[in-house]
Amino acid sequence: MEYRDLIEEALKFRENAYAPYSNFKVGAAVIMDDNKIYGGCNIENASFGATNCAERSAIFSAVSKGNRNLKAIALVGDTSTYTYPCGICRQVISEFCDENTDIILVKNANDYVIKKIDEILPGAFTKKDLQK
Ligand code: THU
Repeated sequence: MEYRDLIEEALKFRENAYAPYSNFKVGAAVIMDDNKIYGGCNIENASFGATNCAERSAIFSAVSKGNRNLKAIALVGDTSTYTYPCGICRQVISEFCDENTDIILVKNANDYVIKKIDEILPGAFTKKDLQK
């Protein structure tokens, strides 16, 4: 699958990052199973724990619009290396993805790697673990 548009969207949304405390801007974009794309950025807060990461901003936007099925998510940070999702975001991704969902770690438009949830969150705690 060609991810150029998704990556462009993540780069575009990174410009909206509100990161006055860390000065680390992150952008994310998701493509859902209806092929719609939603973007997000990190949004920090003076009460640091209230910060929302870019991936969660993008996913929450898609879910709020009624789509819960992630085909792929692209993530771009503010360094010359690939930025991996934080632990909380891995958990949120796992709620709405399946084993085939592409998790795209972007350095720039021409340089990215693709991971699957099982590689970055093995043994995830999911819905099925709530069965008694
Ligand atoms: N951040 C993200 O947006 N996504 C991640 O997966 C890693 C961390 C943000 C949170 C905070 O605003 C800044 O990066 C530094 O931690």
